[in-house]
Amino acid sequence: MLFSPYTIRDVTFKNRIVMSPMCMYACDREDGTVHNWHLVHYATRAVGQVGLIIVEATAVTPQGRISARDLGIWSDEHISGLQTLTTLVHEQGAKIGIQLAHAGRKAMVEGEIIAPSPLPFDETMRTPKEMTKTDIEETIQAFQNGALRAKKAGFDVIEIHAAHGYLINEFLSPLTNKRTDEYGGTFENRYRFLSEVIEAVKKVWDGPLFVRISASDYHPDGLTVNDYVEYAKRMKTQGVDLIDVSSGAVVPAKIDVYPGYQVPFAETIRHGADIATGAVGLITSGRQAEEILRNGRADLIFIGRELLRNPYWPKTASSELGISLEAPKPYVRGW
Ligand SMILES: Cc1cc2nc3c(=O)[nH]c(=O)nc-3n(C[C@H](O)[C@H](O)[C@H](O)COP(=O)(O)O)c2cc1C
Repeated sequence: MLFSPYTIRDVTFKNRIVMSPMCMYACDREDGTVHNWHLVHYATRAVGQVGLIIVEATAVTPQGRISARDLGIWSDEHISGLQTLTTLVHEQGAKIGIQLAHAGRKAMVEGEIIAPSPLPFDETMRTPKEMTKTDIEETIQAFQNGALRAKKAGFDVIEIHAAHGYLINEFLSPLTNKRTDEYGGTFENRYRFLSEVIEAVKKVWDGPLFVRISASDYHPDGLTVNDYVEYAKRMKTQGVDLIDVSSGAVVPAKIDVYPGYQVPFAETIRHGADIATGAVGLITSGRQAEEILRNGRADLIFIGRELLRNPYWPKTASSELGISLEAPKPYVRGW
């Protein structure tokens, strides 16, 4: 199954291998624009036969960057570099998505940082400003503007970053959202910000829409995978196509990691909410990926660090599974 095509809306990925979004911190000019590094890095994985490449967390506002070296999509000036990138990747037969992000209280940039509540992540981080209604409206608008620019730049998929303790995740979790207005308190109220972001994005984007979530806060008072089954049902109703299931990083916590440690979350959400899921986290072999797909635990396999080590991982996985993978033409003699 790993090498079978997968279609969402009108977009077909040639296989189920997805390059997981990974920040490159490579914007030397600190202006959010695509640099040569990004062109080389992503196009290489397309040559390596990845089916879908998801570009790293790309900030919808300058203050929403994790670091000053992040990619950005807050200005029309970002479109042309991103367009060069999508063209390059398309030329190599892969599809390309972008992760739209706002770092919230985890932003490590100069100036004011914002979050649902004025609580720092830990003692080393700054205290964010509690977002006003205007901040909320402007940020939702920024996600919509980012989606429109992503469309203009030729992306096939948009992924909303609602995981890892960044802004949207901070609204969802009761550990980070202490608001007393309609954006905090109840389960429904904490979902409102993400719901409005999805709605705003859907107004300008009818292509495949993914949302990355942290399925567990790893904290006794935090969210669990069962909460995310309920949130995933709501996302499905709103037209989200796939939940990319990661976990943690909402509050400092010790996480027991081992091969495939997040796969049970992807499986629970897939069956509990009847929605497609992506599995990610320490998936490093073709057999492991095939097991996840064949046992109906996820629909797509996201590969992170293994693709940093080996841009030709799809080739490695295909050999392991005894499948002959077509070579990019110039590489036929070495494949
Ligand atoms: C260098 C690096 C940067 C990352 N940046 C992002 C990011 O921009 N967005 C995101 O959702 N996850 C990010 N992650 C998490 C990965 O997408 C992935 O979920 C995680 O590394 C686990 O998968 P793996 O074991 O296959 O690496 C990053 C991970 C690494 C190693």
